[in-house]
Order: sequence, then C-alpha cells, then structure tokens
Amino acid sequence: MTKISIKAGHPLKQKTACLVLPVYEGKLKKPLFSELDASLYGRLQKIFRSREFSGKAGEVLLLHAVEGLACERFLLVGLGPKKTANGTALRNFGSLVTTYLAERSIGRCLIDTSGFQLARGSEMSGLSALSEGVLLAGYSFDDYREKVADAISPLQGVTLLIGTSRDKIAAETAVSDALVVCRGICCARDLVNQPGNTKSPLFLAEAAQKIAREQGLKCTLLDKVELEKQGFGALLGVAQGSLRDPYLIVLEYHGGTKDERPVALVGKGVVFDAGGISLKPSDKMDEMKMDMAGGAAVLGAIQAVAELKLPVNLVAVVPAVENLPSGSAYRPGDILRSLSGKTIEVMNTDAEGRLILADALTWVGKFNPRVVIDLATLTGACIVALGHHASAVLGNHEGLIRELIKAGERCGDRLWQLPLWDEYNAQIKGDFGDIKNTGGRPAGTITAAAFLKQFAEKYTWAHLDIAGTAWSDKGSPGEPKGGTGVGVRVLVEYLRGQC
Ligand code: BES
Ligand code: MN
Ligand code: ZN
Repeated sequence: MTKISIKAGHPLKQKTACLVLPVYEGKLKKPLFSELDASLYGRLQKIFRSREFSGKAGEVLLLHAVEGLACERFLLVGLGPKKTANGTALRNFGSLVTTYLAERSIGRCLIDTSGFQLARGSEMSGLSALSEGVLLAGYSFDDYREKVADAISPLQGVTLLIGTSRDKIAAETAVSDALVVCRGICCARDLVNQPGNTKSPLFLAEAAQKIAREQGLKCTLLDKVELEKQGFGALLGVAQGSLRDPYLIVLEYHGGTKDERPVALVGKGVVFDAGGISLKPSDKMDEMKMDMAGGAAVLGAIQAVAELKLPVNLVAVVPAVENLPSGSAYRPGDILRSLSGKTIEVMNTDAEGRLILADALTWVGKFNPRVVIDLATLTGACIVALGHHASAVLGNHEGLIRELIKAGERCGDRLWQLPLWDEYNAQIKGDFGDIKNTGGRPAGTITAAAFLKQFAEKYTWAHLDIAGTAWSDKGSPGEPKGGTGVGVRVLVEYLRGQC
C-alpha cells in the first residue's frame, strides 16, 4: 500500500515531484494561491477566469512549475462546493489524485491539507477519509496475473502537509486508523475477487484461520458432521448440491470486559451461487462468486477491530456453502427443518442466502449477543430499489437501525432503511411448512428480511442487504472493478461509536 506520512510546513517551500493543491469550487481566494500566482505571473487567475479550471469536484489541472518554486510540478484538484464537501468528497479526492498520478508514473506527491475547511473537530476524520481514498485507489487484485508489471504501479509515497506541527500526532493517528480500516476493506475485496474454482467454503475457513492467527482471535470451524449433529437443516439443504463441504466459520475477539455481551456479525458466505435447480440465467453468472461478500465484510471488519484494539467483544459468523444444481441438490418443494425447529418450504432454490442465514442467526443466539448485524448479498430486488449507491437496512429495533445509518453517513458506506412491517409476513406464510423461502415479486428485499426476522426474534437485530453495493461493475478511481469491500467501514464505524 502507498506509504502516507505527515509533515508540517509551508506548501510552497516543499521540494516534491508534485504539489497537490485542493481547490473548492469558486474563486482562488486563499493567500496561498495569491502567493503561488505571483510566481506564475498571474497564470492561475487567467486559468480560473477562462473557466478552464474552476474547482468542480473531479476537475484536475497539472502544471509544471517555473523557476523559483520548490516543487517540480503542481496539481490543482477540484473539491466541489465548500458547503457540500464531506468525507466522501475527500475520499474521492484522494482516489482521484492517486489514480491520476499513477497513470502518469509520478511516484510521489505532497498534498496540502491546510485548506480543508471541515466542521470543527472533524479535520482529523478528514485526513482519515483522504488517506482512505489514497489507499483504496492503490488496490488491485493480482493473484492470477502473470506480469504484475502490466498493472499501473501505484503511488509509492504521499506526504500530507498540515498547518502546524502541534497536530502531528493526531494526524498520524488518523492516517494509521485509515490504514487499518483499508487493510480490512482490501482483505474483503481479495476474498470477493477470488474465483470460484479456488474459493471453496474450506478456502474461506482457512482465510479466517489466517486472520485469527495474525490477530490473536479464537477461530472455530463447524464442519459438515458437526452441522449435521447440531441440526443445521436449512444450511445443509443448500450445501447438498455441491461436492464441496460447508463450514460454519466463527471468529471471536475479546476487547471488552469479561462479562460484557458481544456484538455478533453474521455474513452470508455463498462462495458461488448458480441458483441450484432454480438455475440462474448464464448472463453475468460469473459475478455470483461475489455472493460471499457479506461474509468477507464480516471477516474484514473483525480483523480491523482487532487491529484497532477497540474495547468491545465481537463475534463474526460466516455460514459458507456453495449453491449448485446436481443430482444431489435440494429441490423446489423440499421442506427443510431449520436449526430453530421451524420448517421451511423451498419455493426457489435460488433464495438460498436466507436459508443459510436462518441457521446462522439461530446458532449465534448462544452467545447471548447484545446486538446482531447480518450482511448479505441477498436480493436482486435490492438493486432495483436502491441501485448501487446505498445498501438496504432493515431490522427489529429502530434505535439500532438509526445508529447504523448515522455511522454509514459518517464513513460513506451509506444505508437506506426499508420498512419491515408485520403485513409483509403474509407473503411468506407456508402452505405445507411453517414458512416459505420466497414471497413473490412485490417487495423482494423486505420479504427476505421478514424471513430472517423470524430467526432473530430473541435479540436486537439489523440486516444489511448489500446486493447492489458489494460489486463494482465498471470500476472508478477508488473502487476498481470487482469486490468493493462494502460493509467493513460501516461496521467498524458503528463499533467505534459504541466504545
Ligand atoms: N445472491 C442472490 C442475490 C443477488 C443478485 C446478489 C444479484 C447480487 C446480485 C440471491 O441468492 C438470489 O438469487 N436471490 C433471488 C431471490 C428470489 C429467488 C426470491 C433474487 O434476488 O432473484
Ligand atoms: Mn441465489
Ligand atoms: Zn445468493
């Protein structure tokens, strides 16, 4: 990852390959720009007046320096209107700078951050957001590339220039916190991008064991024999079509006091979702290797929380299975007895996520959790409802939902609530069993959550549907095509808020 360091000093006195100057939309007012413009014989004003550059978000202008300036070149980058500049604007700014310079093989730069005018007290979270933007833009998944050299080599070093050395320690903490969160996000991205031929449930289990070793966490794996013994009938129903055995993956982090009830995170871990006998269309089926993005987020989050040493107790649970059609696959019409005892009528074998989550949600009750949050690429309907810019949040506790939404606003992993009224239960009432695994076309994301709710009755619970946000189809500077690592940031931010 790009190395980020902090320095205090005057921007125009710094020797650097590239001095990056963020500019709010509008006029070049600051004394810094007047000073710079004086050395440039008024060219900046000219450029501004001609509207070749005006500070709109995403605008860039690279100029070579003239004699008398310490830097070799400088880069003006638009931040957009001052009023709306928030963490997301700074994150995008960091990503844009990183990608722009990397594409031009400029390996180092110095970013002037003294001009960030954020709400009081949030300068440091601004530095975190900027650092996240830089670090995430440098991500690429190269496990299967013969020549990594073909990929653009990312920025080697970024120096963040702050106004006074008094803030140096706080700024360094902001950067190192960002680094930890980004490691969690990139861990999730790596797992999501891993192809289905390598990514068995066991592969996920081994990835969790590695995290446990590195962070000193407790890791427990429930294998197929154990799952059978305990009665995970819904999970096993989904898994039975695949030659690869399922696992229930459990990681525990104890950062709080001994008697403190844990927060439990549950993440859908379908390593590949072909739909089963209710086979999916082949178009874009390749993307269904990302159907474990909820599980990846949960693993990335617990890794980050452990590395940050947050004073909480945390459990992460990932039911890991593969959903394939075969001679041994479960069928539409099958009735499964879930771990809770409730029977489930399978209307569609492609609605498998809620089945494995049902058993995982039941099982996690044994930790007597204070709060349970599940994340899942659960419904295509969620993409129809919210597109790719927000995950859906639903649950049985308005307070928890509000806290999660607020955490999402703070960190840029945005959530939008959908209702979970009792009226929706009618759609999933069973004909031959207690409950059906699909509720028809209307409100697909809600009826999926209504299904989960019946297995989360004993605790405070929220569900995040990340179907539209877990995968980037086109790619953008901070989010290359593939897994996004969505969920890690909002979970860490929520848990930070609990401490
Ligand atoms: N994993 C899919 C949901 C999904 C679709 C995630 C597209 C990301 C992108 C899930 O298992 C699924 O197939 N859901 C079905 C449910 C339906 C059969 C009730 C769906 O959304 O079509
Ligand atoms: Mn499915
Ligand atoms: Zn699925």
